Amino acid sequence: MTSTEPVYQADALIAEDIDAYLAQHQNKTLLRFITCGSVDDGKSTLIGRLLYDSKMIFEDQLAALEADSKRVGTQGDAIDFALLVDGLAAEREQGITIDVAYRFFTTEKRKFIVADTPGHEQYTRNMVTGASTADLAVILIDARKGVLTQTRRHSFLAHLVGIRHIVLAVNKMDLVDYDQSTFEHIVADYRSFAKSIGITDFTPIPISGFKGDNITNAPSPNTPWYDGPSLINHLETVEVDNTTAQAQPFRMPVQWVNRPNLDFRGFSGLITSGTVKPGDAVRIVPSGKTSTVKSIVSFDGELDEAVAGEAVTICLADEVDCSRGNVIAAAGNPPESADQFEANIIWMSDDDLIPGRAYWLKLATQTVSATIAQPKYEIDVNSMEHLAAKTLKLNGIGVAEVTTDKPIVFEPYEASRSLGGFILIDKLTNATVGAGMINFSLRRAQNVHWQALEITREQHAAMKNQKPAVLWFTGLSGSGKSTIANMVEKKLHRMNRHTFLLDGDNVRHGLNKDLGFTEADRIENIRRVGEVAKLMADAGLIVITAFISPFRAEREMVRAMLPEGEFFEIHIDTPLEVAEARDVKGLYQKAREGKLKNFTGIDSPYEKPENPEIRIDTTAMTVEQAADLIIDRLLG
Ligand code: ADX
Repeated sequence: MTSTEPVYQADALIAEDIDAYLAQHQNKTLLRFITCGSVDDGKSTLIGRLLYDSKMIFEDQLAALEADSKRVGTQGDAIDFALLVDGLAAEREQGITIDVAYRFFTTEKRKFIVADTPGHEQYTRNMVTGASTADLAVILIDARKGVLTQTRRHSFLAHLVGIRHIVLAVNKMDLVDYDQSTFEHIVADYRSFAKSIGITDFTPIPISGFKGDNITNAPSPNTPWYDGPSLINHLETVEVDNTTAQAQPFRMPVQWVNRPNLDFRGFSGLITSGTVKPGDAVRIVPSGKTSTVKSIVSFDGELDEAVAGEAVTICLADEVDCSRGNVIAAAGNPPESADQFEANIIWMSDDDLIPGRAYWLKLATQTVSATIAQPKYEIDVNSMEHLAAKTLKLNGIGVAEVTTDKPIVFEPYEASRSLGGFILIDKLTNATVGAGMINFSLRRAQNVHWQALEITREQHAAMKNQKPAVLWFTGLSGSGKSTIANMVEKKLHRMNRHTFLLDGDNVRHGLNKDLGFTEADRIENIRRVGEVAKLMADAGLIVITAFISPFRAEREMVRAMLPEGEFFEIHIDTPLEVAEARDVKGLYQKAREGKLKNFTGIDSPYEKPENPEIRIDTTAMTVEQAADLIIDRLLG
């Protein structure tokens, strides 16, 4: 069969045979790869061609494809392979592919999973999703156009997410008359760019996805000057990292503790690197406790050895503490644990990254609360320039410091994708908003330790004969927070309680005088006040705070800093119209006139508490009544 006339083979599979077929191919190695190219570089055509030539097209799909090709009217009677891959009809009509599609195919030598990611500029997210598990990237270039901005962006992203095998597929060679110098020129161009971003090696192949040149056999008669492998040949033989993962020290993040009865306690998880045998000395990180592997169990029974990529249950010789999120590691070579790192962050949400806000950070089987500092810089993925940045927008990539609320076990992403890569999740919406790759832990995190204090917070409180608490007032400007908070403090003082009032206007003259009213500044304002309130509560005080504190996420962050039952969220619920009518400081008028920007309730949001401990309707009670109600709840 010549590559220009793909002919349907009688031995192609039908759907019912697929299980048997895959079972037969189970022992082949697996290569995961992605294809990257711009909208019309011929990416879908190429994938369709790979699937077709490896005969992984099912009969019914092929019939549909032929019909589609006739309807759309491609050149001659040739099948349009792009139609096979583009999937959804709606996408076909738009002429673009918009999500990551994973496809499976196999040849005599190897199994493949290919992630087809869209080439459109705004779809960094899809590209990163597809690339994060891939071993190899096929970067497609249109021979007529050469190295484009998109080529550079895709290569940078592929390299960033840890792909170490790059194929430069110079496509549409048929449209440049298979000209050798065109090919060589593009390769030279790409080589100098690749070097600048740290790609030291890549495999250039001149192809035509449409005509089939150098896809399965090389050299094609049209490119006698080419002496490298065909695309399939390269994909079948390239050495991927499974073997290197096995050569690294042993690590298994614990997914769950398997305890079906009192006689059995095993730790289940996926081995991310190395090998393990019964009798091996292991260390649990972060606790540092050591033990010995007693046995390794899998679906197939007890194992003499398990290696990277396998899911197993490990039983230890000693009763050591070990829970979900811990990592069982080679005793002599454990991973680090730390609570501050530098990381590359890829932002994937329509809402900008908010420095200082707490997000959930998920790394391997660990989930912790984390904040991202203002980025050190953002990377322009088109020019690779470093730009100053206050935040990251959708598809933005930058470098920033990350702080977690407790130490996590990790490795630099360079060393381990499993223990170095993480995702960020919005705490309120549960949406994945970013992905990150750890570069290194910060030295200050390694050198600053918690000092165990000998006088405990309980002893501080006992001396004052009171239970510490934080009365957290929240509400619009002019809602009455300060007035009611003052009254509460006066009354508590009279009752011999040791209190302290932190008020927004006052704190902003001192501790927080460097902060304004942007979203990020308000978040930092509340973070600092939360930390101060916590210290004061540790000292045994009843702390009263009066800040607008407009965002739910930060109020929840402060709540989480304190022991259960010590945080009272008090919503001073005064309607905007009422606060505005009072306008004690004349600020609402200024805001309405446009002379004051970012004013809460006018052009900056206020997120009402959903379940405050106490809600005060100031239109229905006096200041005195409100104060009494709060004190009753506190002491009652
Ligand atoms: S918060 O949003 O960061 O919690 P905070 O309570 O500290 O605000 O400060 C609010 C006080 O600052 C208001 O009562 C008001 O007097 C003053 N202020 C000045 N500019 C603004 C603004 N743009 N929005 C809200 N309050 C402002």
